[in-house]
Amino acid sequence: MAMIRLRPVVALLLASLLLALVPPCARAAQLTMASGATGRDIAVLRAALDRFEAQTGHTVRIIEMPSSSTDEFAQYRLWLAAGNRDVDVYRTDIIWAPQIANHLLDLSAFEPARLAARAHFPNIIDSQTVDGRLVALPYYTDVPALFYRRDLLDRYGLAVPETWDDLVTAARAIQAGERAAGADRFHGYVFQAASYEGLTCNGLEWLAAAGAGELFDTEGRPVIDIAGASAVLTRVASWIGDITPQGVLAWREEESRGIWQTGHAAFMRNWPYAAALSSDEGSAVKGRFGIAPLPAGTAGSAATLGGWNLAVSRYSREPDAAVDLVRFLSSAQAQKDRAIANNNLPTIPALYTDPQILAVRPDLPIWKRIVDDAIARPSARTGRHYNEFSKEFWSAVHATLSGRDDARRQLVRFEARMKRLQRGRRR
Ligand code: GLC
Repeated sequence: MAMIRLRPVVALLLASLLLALVPPCARAAQLTMASGATGRDIAVLRAALDRFEAQTGHTVRIIEMPSSSTDEFAQYRLWLAAGNRDVDVYRTDIIWAPQIANHLLDLSAFEPARLAARAHFPNIIDSQTVDGRLVALPYYTDVPALFYRRDLLDRYGLAVPETWDDLVTAARAIQAGERAAGADRFHGYVFQAASYEGLTCNGLEWLAAAGAGELFDTEGRPVIDIAGASAVLTRVASWIGDITPQGVLAWREEESRGIWQTGHAAFMRNWPYAAALSSDEGSAVKGRFGIAPLPAGTAGSAATLGGWNLAVSRYSREPDAAVDLVRFLSSAQAQKDRAIANNNLPTIPALYTDPQILAVRPDLPIWKRIVDDAIARPSARTGRHYNEFSKEFWSAVHATLSGRDDARRQLVRFEARMKRLQRGRRR
């Protein structure tokens, strides 16, 4: 063969010439992905990216964002409005799609991504479809549960609370007992009540459990049950300083998990990732806790549908490689790895009966039941105004919980602002 007789330097020259002729799509791309970081999100993402890099030859850099969905969104909005070309893929909260859709690629224009979408829960695909454009593929879904200390329920002869009344009674009894035994920083119930998106989730759950959760009709008109909602929020405000410390007013997911995981709370509301971390070596509650649906009010138990998706920026210089990355990260194998490593809930129904996931995550059927009944936040109903709605809502809830104002006055003001927003929307 002629090639054999070539001198090494000539062979090298020929090889680089050939490389230069390879079409751009086969080139190794350098991608950047922005992702929020709660718990061990980044480590789990990095492990998946390493596998993607090994398979494709592309490289992916992570921009690590704050844990708060609200802070993360504020930054993404700025970047997208400025047409930032440095970020190719964004990990996006389920509620953001209608607000940023114009800056994202329509993934249904990419045949493999369009087909991949069929594997996921249809309601999640719907939530990421804006005016017929599929702007993100699912990464994982998320719902909250009530985390309870099994050992303490046994010690005090109590059952897992099924209603909010049960929860308050049990939390008081355990807190009093533990404090009397010397644990003076022990708390009955911890959740998230800082001024941010997580408080909107908690607030909607309290309202919905009492039958007052419908805030907008299908036309986006506010339909707020002020009497019902005020009664619930006033009740929750009375927990603060009783079964919940004042500090909760500044807590997000990680602060509440910190209290819980060091063994200082009887009950916690949190998302599935917290169950994985609570079972780690070194966790004070390892092997001592269980999860159940959030307690019910007169209208039942209500859990907010959360979850994260993967979107490609319209301004990406590497759209094809970025779409491949999104497909890889939302695939069944990647979702399975994340369910095992971090208890992130799959968006592919078949994975809920996967024996390998169930062997590590035996509570998966309980989480699945919560997913099936979860309620959506009004992101479709408020469209591009979702963030303004949420900010006004969590502010009203925060003002009530902190005792700065009464619930009724806050909700009347919230309703007036929502009416104004809706008038602006029609114009
Ligand atoms: C979780 C949910 C997300 C929600 C956030 C609020 O990360 O998955 O949808 O907005 O919590 O803190």
